[in-house]
Amino acid sequence: MSEAMLRALGAGATAAAYTALCLAVYARQRRRRTAAVREAASLSANGDTAPTLVLFASQTGQAETIAWQTARQLRAAGTSVRVMELNALDAATLGSASRALFVASTYGEGDAPDSASVFAERVMGSPVTLPSLRYAVLALGDRQYKNFCGFGRALDAWLHAAGASRDFECMEVDNSDPVALAAWQVRWGDAAIDHEDPAGAFAPWRLARRELLNAGSAGAPVFQLGLVPQAGAIPPWASGDLVQIAVASDPARPRDYSIASLPTDGQLQLLVRQEQHPDGTLGTASGLLTSTLAVGDTVALRLQAHRTFRLDGNETRPLILIGNGTGLAGLRAHLRARAAAGRCDNWLVFGERQAAHDFLCREEIEAWQASGVLGRLDMVFSRDQPERLYVQHRLLQSADALRAWLHNGAAVYVCGSLQGMASGVDAALRQIAGESLWSDLLASGRYRRDVY
Ligand SMILES: Cc1cc2nc3c(=O)[nH]c(=O)nc-3n(C[C@H](O)[C@H](O)[C@H](O)COP(=O)(O)OP(=O)(O)OC[C@H]3O[C@@H](n4cnc5c(N)ncnc54)[C@H](O)[C@@H]3O)c2cc1C
Ligand SMILES: Cc1cc2nc3c(=O)[nH]c(=O)nc-3n(C[C@H](O)[C@H](O)[C@H](O)COP(=O)(O)O)c2cc1C
Repeated sequence: MSEAMLRALGAGATAAAYTALCLAVYARQRRRRTAAVREAASLSANGDTAPTLVLFASQTGQAETIAWQTARQLRAAGTSVRVMELNALDAATLGSASRALFVASTYGEGDAPDSASVFAERVMGSPVTLPSLRYAVLALGDRQYKNFCGFGRALDAWLHAAGASRDFECMEVDNSDPVALAAWQVRWGDAAIDHEDPAGAFAPWRLARRELLNAGSAGAPVFQLGLVPQAGAIPPWASGDLVQIAVASDPARPRDYSIASLPTDGQLQLLVRQEQHPDGTLGTASGLLTSTLAVGDTVALRLQAHRTFRLDGNETRPLILIGNGTGLAGLRAHLRARAAAGRCDNWLVFGERQAAHDFLCREEIEAWQASGVLGRLDMVFSRDQPERLYVQHRLLQSADALRAWLHNGAAVYVCGSLQGMASGVDAALRQIAGESLWSDLLASGRYRRDVY
C-alpha cells in the first residue's frame, strides 16, 4: 500500500476519532448529570436490585466487544451488571429482569447470529410476557444486505410485543459506523470506546510470498499469502482468529480473512480467492491481495480476535473440522494448533471441485493423515463423479460415525461458504444429531462457525 493510501486511511480514522471525542465530552457531562438519577431509579423500583442484563448476539465479535464496553461503562457509573450471550438466556431470567440492553448483529439473510439462534428459536418462538422489563436494542448490520439489521429489528419488535417498554427506539448501526456507536455509548456513560478495542490499529504488513494453489481449476484462483509486520515482531493471535484488510478505495469497509497459520510459523498466512465482478474487474480487496500487491509491498492489516471460533474450551475434546474452499484457512490454523499440542482426535471433512486441481494444501493434509494428526480424513470432490457430492452429503453418509464422535464429546468447527456449504452442513447436523443435541451443541460452544 502506498503512503498516500495509508494517509487517506489515517485521515478517515482521524475524522471518526474526532467525532467520537466530541461525543465523548458531551457524554461525560451528561453522565455526571444522569448517573445518580439513573442509579437511584434502577435501585428503587420495588426495592429491586436485580442487575441490568447486557446481552449480546454476535458472530465475529463486534457486538460482544460493544456489550462488554457498555457493561464496563455501567459498572463505572455504579450500576450492577450481568453480561450474557443470548443463547445463555432463558425466558425466566429475562422475565425477572427489570432492565436489559441488547447488542445484536445480523447474519445469513436477516437471521440471528449463531450465539443467538437457540434463543431465537426457543424463547422468541414461544409466548412470553415481559410487562416489567425496560430495554434498549443496539442493532449492528450492513446496508449492503437486503435485510438490514434484520435480527436486531425482529428482537426489538418481539420485546415490544411481549409488553416490555423501550428506553428508546432501536438504534441501528451501518457497518460499525463510529458516530452511531458513539451515540449508543452516550446513552450509557463515558464514550471512550476505543481504548480497550482488542482489534487494535491497522499497521503495514509486508507481503513475503504468494503462491497459486489451484492451477487449472474450474473455479476462481485461490492464493496462499504469507505476510510479516513491516516493523517489529510477529504479534500473538490464536487459531480461529481473523485479520481485517483495509483498502484505500473503500476505507470504511475493511474485509475479513481467516488466518491460516500460527504465530510460531513466523508468518501470517491467508488463503484468498480472487473475486471477479461481473464487469471483469477484480474484487477490491481480493484483487489487491492476489494481483495488485507485489511481493515486498505493504498492506494495511489488523488482527481481529474471533473468540467464538477459537478452540477455547474445546482444547481437550475431539474435533470435527468441516469446510470448503478458502474455509480451509481457519481449519488449517486449528489443525496446526492440534498438531503442536500432540492431539490426533481430529476429523477433517473438506470439499472442493476436482482432486486434480483443487486439493488445497495437499502435502500438508496428506502428511497429517500419514502421521495420524488426522484420525479421519474425508476429501469430497464435487465434480470427480457424475453426481455432485458435497461435504454435507458425506456427513449424511457417515451419520453413525458422526454420532459416535459427538457422543464422545466432539466439537464441530465449520469454515467457508455460508450459502450452500454451511447451510447444508447445518441441516445435516440437525438431522444426524437431532434437534435437542444440535441446540445443546450451539448453546455450549461445541458448534462454532466462521462462515461468509
Ligand atoms: C468472517 C469472514 C471470513 C472470511 N475469510 C475469508 C478467507 O479466508 N478467504 C477469502 O478469500 N475470503 C474470505 N472472506 C471474504 C472476504 O472478506 C471478502 O468478502 C472477499 O475477498 C471479497 O472481497 P473483495 O473486496 O475482493 O470483493 P468486492 O469488491 O467487495 O466484491 C464482492 C462482491 O460484491 C459484488 N460487487 C462489488 N462491487 C461490484 C461492482 N462494481 N460491480 C458488480 N458487482 C460488484 C460482486 O458480487 C462481488 O463478487 C471472509 C469473510 C468473512 C465475513
Ligand atoms: C455472511 C454475513 C451475512 C450478513 N448478513 C447481514 C444481513 O442480512 N443484514 C445486515 O444488516 N447485516 C448483515 N451482515 C453484517 C453484520 O451484521 C455486521 O458486519 C455486524 O457488525 C457483525 O457483528 P458481529 O461481529 O458482532 O457478528 C452480515 C455479515 C456477514 C459476514
